[in-house]
Amino acid sequence: MNLAPITVAIHTLGRDARQDFIDGLRDGLTRTPKVLSPRWFYDERGCELFEEITQLPEYYQTRTEMSILERHALGIMLTARPASIVELGAGSCTKSRVLIRAAKGMGTLWTFVPFDISETTLRNSASELVDEFDDLTIYCVTGEFDHHLSQIPRFGRQLIVFLGSTIGNLDLEQARMFLSEVRRLMHPGDHFLLGVDFVKDERELLAAYDDAQGITAEFNLNLLHRINRELDGDIDVSAFEHVALWNPADHRIEMHVRSTSDQTVTIGAAELSVQFDTGELTRTEICAKYTRAGVEALLAEAEMRPIEWYADPAGRFGLLLAGHALQS
Ligand code: TRP
Repeated sequence: MNLAPITVAIHTLGRDARQDFIDGLRDGLTRTPKVLSPRWFYDERGCELFEEITQLPEYYQTRTEMSILERHALGIMLTARPASIVELGAGSCTKSRVLIRAAKGMGTLWTFVPFDISETTLRNSASELVDEFDDLTIYCVTGEFDHHLSQIPRFGRQLIVFLGSTIGNLDLEQARMFLSEVRRLMHPGDHFLLGVDFVKDERELLAAYDDAQGITAEFNLNLLHRINRELDGDIDVSAFEHVALWNPADHRIEMHVRSTSDQTVTIGAAELSVQFDTGELTRTEICAKYTRAGVEALLAEAEMRPIEWYADPAGRFGLLLAGHALQS
């Protein structure tokens, strides 16, 4: 029987999600060059496709990070000794489960605080977690990274985790803001665990974002299908293709949709008509890759102190455990 409570705190911007989508399209598709926000990737179909991406042979990140966690969870917990684990962008909580198990084994952990944009995802993950950890208090917080991190409650000495190289999906300015918000949540003695994908051979990176089965392409183009489904769009999705490019100056993969003809699309609900030229690129996502030194510099700016790196033997992916800069 489940003895522990699950609490769900919901934070929204008080705006209608559909109106937000419309406003975002009106803004992004009237710019030069055009952009589409990755926020809209994750409808039900998008979440399914992303789940498939994490299992692709070319997409090494998820399984590599998981193997690092499995190997080092205990070591991480010996240093962090958290009473509470906070996971930012928790999703299915598959990775935090490994951390929770290790911390529970040491007897320090009482509370798990998953933070995510999707309430449904959090409710499902929380009820699955209490099946295994029946005395763990779970406090779910739904919200957005750039508005609601300050709403996360603190339940004693904490380990805040941000995995999956999601930091790479923020541009440098956003990453700085994000880390300084995280730092504001930390007291001396608290820890932060960050998962990052390292800069590596361009071909290996491109393959991870342009797989042979075309799942990433489908994930990217789902954004256009979603506009058709939800906002009365008439986009001929077959007249766009998925493109992943490596931008060496900003050391990041950029995902785009490329128009394969001169065409005009209309989006009824946004009262928008947009012209695309043949070959024109619309950026949909950035996936920045880091070096160890780059991550350490970012954390130092946020007044955090690197404690230990954990990586796979091939050095593809790393987890950095950091502390509050004022901690001895
Ligand atoms: N953070 C992961 C990454 O950068 C997940 C991700 C975000 C992703 N958008 C994506 C993966 C698009 C594949 C395609 O890889």
